Amino acid sequence: MTKIQSVVRGVGGYLPERVMTNDDLAKLIDTSDEWIVQRTGIRKRHIAAEGELTSDLALVAARRALENAGMDASDIDLIIVGTTTPDMTFPSTAALLQQKLGITGGSAFDVQAVCSGFVFAMATADSYIKTGMARRALVVGAETFSRILDWTDRTTCVLFGDGAGAVILEAREVPADAPEDGVLASSLRTDGSHWDKLYVDGGVSSTQTIGHLRMEGREVFRHAVGMISDVVEEVLAKTGKTTDELDWFVPHQANRRIIDGAGRKLGISDAKTVVTVDQHANTSAASVPLALWVACEDGRINKGDLVMIEAMGGGFTWGASLIRW
Ligand code: UT7
Repeated sequence: MTKIQSVVRGVGGYLPERVMTNDDLAKLIDTSDEWIVQRTGIRKRHIAAEGELTSDLALVAARRALENAGMDASDIDLIIVGTTTPDMTFPSTAALLQQKLGITGGSAFDVQAVCSGFVFAMATADSYIKTGMARRALVVGAETFSRILDWTDRTTCVLFGDGAGAVILEAREVPADAPEDGVLASSLRTDGSHWDKLYVDGGVSSTQTIGHLRMEGREVFRHAVGMISDVVEEVLAKTGKTTDELDWFVPHQANRRIIDGAGRKLGISDAKTVVTVDQHANTSAASVPLALWVACEDGRINKGDLVMIEAMGGGFTWGASLIRW
């Protein structure tokens, strides 16, 4: 008897060149570095250049992940891009990324779960691999959130940034009793009754405009810690693991206070928690793979480590995955 594991082969990330600091923002709107750092932990964000598209950010992250995996783009037979800021209404950003990678095989599609997009995409790719639908998946979170921000609204525009991250998963057929490896379990949740707490006030079918991000920040905050803890505990229960066994907690990078709150509730120490929100603000679906990339590059996350990823965002959507790296 054998089983299929979805093992991690590579990780990559990309942040656009242009940096916007809190002080830069304070020149545009009534805010301050002090307020932003105290309430969110954010110090700066990266902003895509004019003409630099979500698929362009995804492309750099994907190439870095391929290089990290020692693979060619032609090895990939599944591309899933988590994004809420696609290049076009259609085709999918994944199809455009596939074209930019110069490949035509396999399948490619987007997942729209806002800030949870990467976690949803990872769980989807894992299911494709475990059911034999794909062998090598490029899983991307990529966003140009700067394009949907209302730059006059200080309650939202200070919180977000642009970026992309990518992970490559590969099918490995092993004996049924082989040691655990790769994605061990995931849980995904959605509760659409909360849609109007975090949304974009435009769209193809409703207004035929792109719209701007609107958020009841306090309401999102109120729900975030509980939802995150819930889904992380569910994934731990599925695998029979405890928080003590985790090597790394890689949360969605929205707000330092939410990360700290979830860590406290779950009993995960700061030392095990990867935090990058100070460096790039909330990059929505890109935030978890960017944090994974940083922590792999700087030598924190190593082969064999037990890594919990989680995210929560518009919808509401929320989810978590436990990965033996
Ligand atoms: O992936 C999920 C995405 N979203 C999130 O994670 C966001 C979740 N929510 C949050 O992170 C927090 O609610 C915020 C950071 C958005 C806001 O922090 P808060 O501690 O909940 O502040 P608040 O909304 O209660 O506002 C406090 C004060 C208000 O002034 P008054 O009414 O007390 O006079 C705001 O008008 O801060 C004011 N304020 C600002 N001041 C300076 C709001 N935004 C700013 C700003 N600069 N940028």
